[in-house]
Parts: sequence; C-alpha cells; structure tokens
Amino acid sequence: MSKDDSRMWGGRFNEPTDEFVQAFTASVGFDQRLAQADIEGSRAHAMMLKHIGVLNSDELTSIKYGLQQIREEIEAGKFTWSVALEDVHMNIEARLTELIGDAGKKLHTGRSRNDQIATDIRLYLREQITVCMAGIRSFQNGLLDLAEREAETILPGFTHLQVAQPVSFGHHMLAWFEMLERDHGRLGDCAARMNQMPLGAAALAGTSYELDREFTAEILGFDIPCRNSIDAVSDRDFAIEFCAAAAICMTHLSRMAEELVLWSSAQFDFIRLPDRYCTGSSIMPQKKNPDVPELVRGKAGRVSGNLINLLMLMKAQPLSYNKDNQEDKEPLFDTLDTLINSLLAFSDMVPALNVNKEKMYQSAQQGYATATDLADYLVKKGTAFRDAHEVVGQAVAFAIEQNKDLSACTLEELKKFDARVEEDVFEVLTLEGSLNARNITGGTAPEQVLFQVNAARTRIKN
Ligand code: ARG
Repeated sequence: MSKDDSRMWGGRFNEPTDEFVQAFTASVGFDQRLAQADIEGSRAHAMMLKHIGVLNSDELTSIKYGLQQIREEIEAGKFTWSVALEDVHMNIEARLTELIGDAGKKLHTGRSRNDQIATDIRLYLREQITVCMAGIRSFQNGLLDLAEREAETILPGFTHLQVAQPVSFGHHMLAWFEMLERDHGRLGDCAARMNQMPLGAAALAGTSYELDREFTAEILGFDIPCRNSIDAVSDRDFAIEFCAAAAICMTHLSRMAEELVLWSSAQFDFIRLPDRYCTGSSIMPQKKNPDVPELVRGKAGRVSGNLINLLMLMKAQPLSYNKDNQEDKEPLFDTLDTLINSLLAFSDMVPALNVNKEKMYQSAQQGYATATDLADYLVKKGTAFRDAHEVVGQAVAFAIEQNKDLSACTLEELKKFDARVEEDVFEVLTLEGSLNARNITGGTAPEQVLFQVNAARTRIKN
C-alpha cells in the first residue's frame, strides 16, 4: 500500500479503491450537513474518554482545540472536503489529526462510524424538529389573529364541495389550527422517543473499553444511552417517524393550499393573496397565479415520497448496520427543507390574505345554506325531523324554481309547506341567525370562535 493512501482502513487492502467506487460510495457531498453535530458528538466522546482515563488532560485539550478550529473553518467555508475521505466523519477526523497530531488518532477509541452516524443524525434531527415545531407555532399564531379578525365573516361551509351551511371564516381558520396542533404533537412525540444515544454501541456489539455511556449521554442531552447496541446502530425508526409526521403535516398544508387556490380563483373570488406571493404569466397579462400554494400542494407529494423511500430503505434490512443506511440522509434532509420552507411561506402569506366578505356572503346566500336551520325551526315547533327534512326539501325546490333564496320567500309561500311557520322564521333564515344559533363548544357562532381563539392562545403557550 502506498504511504499516501488517505483511506483509514488501507492496511487490509492490496489495491486502491476504484475511482468510480470511491465516488459512488462517498456521502460527504450531502452528510457534511451533519458536521456541527459530528463535532459536538466527538467533543462529548473525547470528554468521556478523558473521564475514564483513556485520554489525558493535554490530549483532551488539543482535541477540543482542534475540533473548535475545524468548526470555525467549516462555518467560514474554508474547510476542504475530500471525496477520498468518503464521509463527514473521516473528513473531520483526518483534519483533526492534521491539526493536532497523535491525539487526534485516539479520538476514535471505543467508537465506530456506525454509532457515530446514528448519533449525529439524532442530534441534528432533534434540533431541526424544534425548528419545524417553531414554524408550526408561528403559522398557528397567524391563524389565530386571522380567526379573531374574521370571526364574524360568513363563509359558505362546504361538504362535497357543495354549499352546505354557513360558517364563520374564523372558524374555518381554527380548523386549520387544529390540524397543525396535531402535527405539532406528533413532532414532539417523535423528538421525545428518539432522544436516546447510540454512542458506545460501536460497530454493533458495544466495546471492550469501559466507556461511561451515561456520562456522554448527559453531555449531549440524551435521556439515556440506547439499551441495545445492535438496535442502536441499525434503528432508523426516528427518521421514518419524522417523515411520517412531516408527510401528514404537508398533506394538511396541501389541503389548505387547495382551498387557497380555489378561493382565489375568479369563480370563487373569496380571497386575494398578497401580490408578493403570486406571479404573473409571460403571455396572459391579466393573470395572477397562486404559485406558492400550488407549489406547497405539489411538494406534499415529494415529502410523502420521502417517507415511502425510507420505509423501502429499511424494509427487510437485516440487523445491524448496513451501508444501505447511508441512503437515509437525502430524503430526510429534503423533508426538513421542504417542511420548514412551506411553513415559513404559509406563516407569512396566510395571515396577510385579503378576505372578500361580500362575495362570500353572496355565495353563502345562493346555496340555500340555511335549509337545515329551517328544518330545525320546524322541529322546535313540533314537526318530526324526517318530516321537516322532506318539507324543507320541497321548499328549496320551490325557491330554486323561483330563482330566489329561502329568506326571500314570503311568509305565505313558506306556510304552504308547513302551517307551523310564523313570522319569526326569518330570523333563522338569515346567515347571521344560522351562525349565532351554533353557540356550542366547537361550533361556528362568532362568540364561540372568539372563545376558542383565546383558549387556543393559552393552549399553545404551554
Ligand atoms: N457514511 C455512512 C452512513 O451514512 C457512515 C457510517 C459508515 N459505516 C461504515 N461502516 N461504512 O451511514
């Protein structure tokens, strides 16, 4: 073996790695993103090695100094990454030895890249999950402000994309809030479950050095060291779980996106998106396209794809570490970037949307959205619900034929369908009356919406 062989395992081999294979197997192009986590893990490992007497004080001091130096080089963009050194771990270790000499060669005592990478991803993901969760919170806060502002604004509520019953626009925003609240909880669960430290599992079997794993775990803020070394190096559940939570959250964002796209079309014209979030057409001068919601809707697909990618990566993989696992990073990073950016966009864009109250009101009026209220009215006057349903159906058919809303029918016209109808019917036939009537927990009455906004503000503070 030539002396300038940069590989850390050169000893066993008779010929250098094929150049293609080197490039094919290298991960440094994407795993350098883990550099700061890798350095943090190495620093803690070194402190533990000193604690158990494998390193002396001077060695620890130079390792800390070297790692800090490398941290700064990377931050300043001055670090030279080498594909020949395969991955982030060996790049950093090689530079450390270059900087501080022999002490650097001792850092890998009692450690393998298998437990090292498993630790790095967890450290990195743990931090990034807090960024995602903060992104959700910021979007939720924006939704609460919007819900408060538009509590009295009437939106036709849809089922089957047909006008169903009038709802408060603020109430609809609170529905989005709840979806995000579950996403926030799922991410928190995932972060809590993954907070165990693989370091010390070494290649797969643990190590013959008497490592103090609790000591390292404490420095790194892990709850406990992983209890099984084989599982520790092989487990990627946390990445799958995160991508599953992210895929659900992106699915939620795609549903919101779809409504924003529909609502901002000329046919609905319920809302106007801020101009800074839209683009024009190079050919049609009149166009204002809702590109950002459309893109978020599209990106939901790639995040679900990333989840499937990871599931397929792990499917049928024998224990313990396999090189396959190197493929976990790109879908994971892509998911993080996509989720964080989508949340960022929506947090800024949605609270700034302009609501066209008149158009929504008209549209709610056209859809016979208070038909249920008329039926409920009859029931309260003594008609059985099924009979009321039938009678109101006939009244709606009549109104459609006359091309007018139920509230525009005369008392006489309505009486023909059920003699119990009296003058007070017009209170329930108005959209406002319909909303106000639903003043129960979780209902759409503006008073209820404002109550829920305040309750939600308290909930997300804790
Ligand atoms: N680059 C590898 C990965 O991302 C690091 C661990 C490699 N371990 C090994 N024995 N080849 O999974």
